[in-house]
Order: sequence, then C-alpha cells, then structure tokens
Amino acid sequence: MSKTKAKTRFFCQECGAESSQWMGKCNSCGAWNSYVEEVMDKTTANSTVRKKSANTSSKPILLQEVATHAVQRNITPDAEFNRVLGGGIVPGSIILIGGEPGIGKSTLMLQLALQMKGQTVVYISGEESEQQIRMRAERIGIGNETCYLYTETALDKIFNALESIQPSWIVLDSIQTLHSTIIDAPAGSVSQLRQCTAELQRYAKETDVPVFLIGHITKDGVIAGPKILEHIVDAVLQFEGDRHYSYRLLRTLKNRFGSTAEIGIYEMQTNGMRQVTNPSDLLITNNNDELSGISIAATMEGMRPLLIETQALVSKAVYGTPQRSTTGFDLRRLHMLLAVLEKRCGFYYGDKDVFINIAGGLKIEDPAIDLSIVCALLSSMLDIPLPPRVCFAGEVGLSGEVRTVARLEQRISEAEKLGFKEIIIAEGYKNAHENNRNIRIKEMKTVSDVYAYLFG
Ligand code: TYD
Ligand code: MG
Repeated sequence: MSKTKAKTRFFCQECGAESSQWMGKCNSCGAWNSYVEEVMDKTTANSTVRKKSANTSSKPILLQEVATHAVQRNITPDAEFNRVLGGGIVPGSIILIGGEPGIGKSTLMLQLALQMKGQTVVYISGEESEQQIRMRAERIGIGNETCYLYTETALDKIFNALESIQPSWIVLDSIQTLHSTIIDAPAGSVSQLRQCTAELQRYAKETDVPVFLIGHITKDGVIAGPKILEHIVDAVLQFEGDRHYSYRLLRTLKNRFGSTAEIGIYEMQTNGMRQVTNPSDLLITNNNDELSGISIAATMEGMRPLLIETQALVSKAVYGTPQRSTTGFDLRRLHMLLAVLEKRCGFYYGDKDVFINIAGGLKIEDPAIDLSIVCALLSSMLDIPLPPRVCFAGEVGLSGEVRTVARLEQRISEAEKLGFKEIIIAEGYKNAHENNRNIRIKEMKTVSDVYAYLFG
C-alpha cells in the first residue's frame, strides 16, 4: 500500500507544483482543479532512455583554464531568425518556440530546415503525418536533400534514429506530444514534459546538436506546461501576431546567448514565411494625407525602430454610454489620454464614441506612441487631417507634459530614412539642433503646445 503511494505524485498542470495529495486549488499559482495524479518511479527519476556516451565524465575546472575559442554559431540563411537568436544557432543549445495554434510555428521551422542546404536536419513531428509535412514543404517550395522527416513520439526511438543519422540540428514538433518510457504519465503532462526536455537537453549538451522544441501556448498566452520548461531551455522564442493579419513577430523571451530585445518580423504568404526587412514601409499607407484621425508614431519594437500608423475615430455617441474601444493599444491608457485632453486642452470626449486602431494588427506597448494617439484623437475630433510627412515620438504624462522616450536617435533616423519631414518629440534632446539632417526635429513641452502648433 505504502509502496504505491510513494510512486504517485500530484502535479499542478498550470505551474508544475508538486504535492503528495490531490488539491482543489493550487497553493502556488491559485489555479482551480489543476492537479493530476502522475505515476513516478523514484528509482528511475534521474535516468534517461538514451545510452550515455562514454566520454561525458567531467570534473571541476578553473575558470581561467576554460578554452576561450569563440563559439562557432551556425548562421542560417534567415536573417530575421539569426537576429532573434543573437547571431545564429549556438551549438548544443536547446530552444523553445511557443505560439498560438495556427500562427505558423511548424511552417517557420520546416522552412528553416529546408533552407539549410548541405546540413542534415531531422524534423520530428508528433502532430502531422509525413504526407502533410511533404505537402507543406511543397507549398514552401524549397528543396533540401538532407532534410529527414520522422513521425514518432517515443523519445527512445527518436534517440535511436538520431544515433544513425548524426544530424546538424533537429526540430521536435511538438514537446507536448513526446513521451519517455521512464515515466508512466500521458504525453503533455508535467512530469513527461520535464523528463523529455531534460533528456533532450542532455542530448544537446553531449552531442553539441542544437535542438528546437515547438511548444503550444495556453489561452492565456503562456507556454503550456509548467514554467520549469522555460527554466531548462537556453532560449524561449515567442511567435505572435494576429491571425487575421499576415504579420508575425518572433520575440525572444529568454536568451542565454544574446539579447532579449530583438525581434524578427515575418509576413505569412501562400508559400511560407517571408522576412520583412523594412517593416515601416509596409505599415504606413502613403495615400491618406487628406484623412483626419491618422497619425504616424515612431515606436520601437525591441531594438528595432518601427514607424506605424495609429488611427482614431471620434464620433457622436448614439447610445447613452459612450463607447471606447481599442485594437493593439491599452484601453486604460486611452482613458488616461482622454482625461488629459479634457483637463489640459479643454476637449470633452464624454459624449463621444472613441475608437483606436493600430495598423497591421500589431500590439504596441511602447509609451512613445502616446503622442501620436493624442494627435490622432485631436485630428479626428476636429476633423482636420494632420500635416503630411510628420511623425511623433513622446510619452504623455498626467499633467499633459510630453515626456522624452528612449532611443530617440534611432527613431529619428528611421523617420528620416523613410522621408519624413518633421518629427515631434519632447524637450531636452541633446542633438535636436544638429542641422545635418533632412528631418526637422520639433521639441514640444506640453500637449497643448502640440495642439497649438498643429491646429492653432
Ligand atoms: P502552422 O505552421 O501549421 O501553424 P502552427 O504550427 O503554429 O500551429 O501554420 C498554419 C497556418 O499557416 C495555416 O492557417 C495555413 C497557413 N499557411 C500559409 O498561409 N502559407 C503557407 O505557406 C503555409 C505552409 C501555411
Ligand atoms: Mg504546428
């Protein structure tokens, strides 16, 4: 009786917390009804289904004695992907790629596998059949003679197959479908995820073969399965975007070998993902100079400057309670900006419906977008279009002051590159008066100054 008890543990499927008994509510993350019983054999908890190679014994070594040869990164033909990884794939790294279903994770990884000509890649899928993957590859339209497909979910069989192929790198689609025979729990459960990822990590470190894991995310946007997965892997990439638009952003949430501020931008086309190297060009439509309620913000996505169109529509409220609705912008932030406009500029939006939209289906969290939203709101309210070829970069504070934002130099250069004539920013930028530029830098103190300057 006691023996069976020792072998069974309960795991919270949300956060990975472990308990000896079932609990209705998880003590650590507060989720309800998330505990599932999983059988664990203590004697084998630390073992692996893979045969260990002989030369894995290691001993402590002095830091200064560690060889300092530069890591030879594997540079892919996909510049956006290299950028996100911090300059190519590091040997022996294990990388998790998360994203909502249908966003294009499998497409991106298959495309990358096909692009790596001359390298042996194994694409292991537990989700799709060989025919389906073949069809997808034909759709992408790139051929790679050394790309293997393997539809298997048992980790021991996968390791056996890899032994004979000796790949340059591997993709596992997805980690939630894998199972290790060591643990008697269903695929996708906490203990399986933990065991499989740990074994794959051991494989990556011992053979120097980079491993890409595709992971599902839950409806709340976190990678399904516990946080523990994110702790084990070297890098976590998140693939995101609005399914109704074709733009996709590849973000780094964690990267042991590079910056987490980088993003890659792709466009989903009928024949795979296309790299977008000049995103600002695509996100701005050039033919609406005479429309009111449109303004251009110079934002940053990670380390990349991005000029983006912000749109506002202010109309008379037909029902008693006026509506406020935003796409790609924080609704509470909009309420704040409306209150500032009322208090500091004397515009009353209380009897108006207000809608905000960010072009391209992107979600912008950069506070520098505030000033552009405010100007779009004013323009729509007054029904006067903003002057053409003007863009904005500034945060708006509660007292109506325009606040300076980070990386102004990059924002200004991007606007200049795209042919903007003027950029409106906060006061106090040290290079504002350099006159070797093709763009005029206009410094403004408050929102009412901006209003007077543009519409006064
Ligand atoms: P997929 O890679 O299967 O998504 P995930 O693995 O993240 O679940 O992407 C599926 C979507 O991508 C599907 O709706 C069809 C679309 N798609 C294209 O638009 N163009 C293409 O070339 C391919 C292969 C897929
Ligand atoms: Mg998929």
